[in-house]
Amino acid sequence: MSEVLIVSNDSSKEEKYKILRPQLEALLSGESDLIANMANTTAALMQTFVFLWVGFYIIREDKLVLGPFQGKIACTRIPYGKGVCGKSWSDEQTLIVGDVDLFPGHISCDGDSRSEIVVPFYLNNKLSGVLDIDSDKLNCFDEVDKLYLEEIVTFLSKKMTYS
Ligand code: SME
Repeated sequence: MSEVLIVSNDSSKEEKYKILRPQLEALLSGESDLIANMANTTAALMQTFVFLWVGFYIIREDKLVLGPFQGKIACTRIPYGKGVCGKSWSDEQTLIVGDVDLFPGHISCDGDSRSEIVVPFYLNNKLSGVLDIDSDKLNCFDEVDKLYLEEIVTFLSKKMTYS
């Protein structure tokens, strides 16, 4: 397993995802532990895109509980349907928020966050948590992010063991 991540800083967003994807898949393929792979996924996304915050929340009973992340400290528990993360969970779909100040009930963990994308992930065909990414720029996320991030969490969840 290579521990060096290649990042092309002057590439487009889509090119960056295309460069990241095979490297991340190779990295995750060597490990089946969910937490270890979540941790490396957040690090690889942060190294590639230098987002404000990248992290997982994992469903534990009736809450999303903070999992592996990169960035500043964050809120640890998010109720079903609350904030962007809880809404992504209740809607069972990826949410793209161009301006977090316009999202009713947005939970602000970092005052510098301006836009956000939240992607649900599934383990054994059951919605089990979300990948949450924050940017300090308005309208940072679009369908390109949705496409590649959904691919990444699908790949991540296919081969996981977790209890
Ligand atoms: N903004 C999220 C809360 C989590 S932090 O961004 C890390 C939300 O509204 O659910």
